[in-house]
Amino acid sequence: MRFLLLSDIHANATALDAALRAVEGRWDSVLCLGDLVDYGPDPNEATERVKALSPIIIRGNHDKAVAGLTDLEDFNPIAKIAAQWTTQEILPDNLKYIAQLPAGPISVNGFTMVHGAVQDEDEYVFVPGQAIEGLLESPTDITFFGHTHHQGGFAYRAGQVALIQMRPEPGPKFTVLQLEAGTRYLLNPGSIGQPRDGDPRAAFAIVDPDHQTVEFWRVPYDIAAVQKRMELAALPRPLIERLAAGR
Ligand SMILES: [Fe+2]
Repeated sequence: MRFLLLSDIHANATALDAALRAVEGRWDSVLCLGDLVDYGPDPNEATERVKALSPIIIRGNHDKAVAGLTDLEDFNPIAKIAAQWTTQEILPDNLKYIAQLPAGPISVNGFTMVHGAVQDEDEYVFVPGQAIEGLLESPTDITFFGHTHHQGGFAYRAGQVALIQMRPEPGPKFTVLQLEAGTRYLLNPGSIGQPRDGDPRAAFAIVDPDHQTVEFWRVPYDIAAVQKRMELAALPRPLIERLAAGR
């Protein structure tokens, strides 16, 4: 059984389509760590495509915001404009799907899934000091998280936390992490629709428990086409520009 692991799609249907095309026939079932919508120009298309994959899924902070489950006052001004635009654009059926997504953490198939941190779905895990609590407290050895839009994660073994950074070569490529017994992992597939780790390609992962591997993928997509749709929608300029920078 191979799991396609998606996170932070952020209403970017072009990136999602490119990712799905690149790994067609290579997975059996989908796990999704939330943030289907917001920032990007395709909230309906992204929601409909994810829904059609019948994933095991949890919500992200942007799903909550668009569904009206959190106050937009917590968002910065640019994020607030995007969330308001998304709220106007999203169709009732898609809004209903977004609104009913469960909160993480949930544990299935021997993994735990969270959007942010094990202890708080909205908390960011960027550095080992922020990872240690989740590494120790997660109910399973392997935990998947999103939210930071950084591909990679953390490993804990014998009292030490190590940073895992994956750097797939140019093109639609992946690098493999071989999971080791006696080690606990917090792993982030990266963001499909708005990567922020310096690589603008769509990021995701494929998890293969039978072989104890995680493939960290990067797939190029037509960024200019997405930027064009964002311009037409009058979404904030910094959100348009950051797609090309991957930051
Ligand atoms: Fe996100």
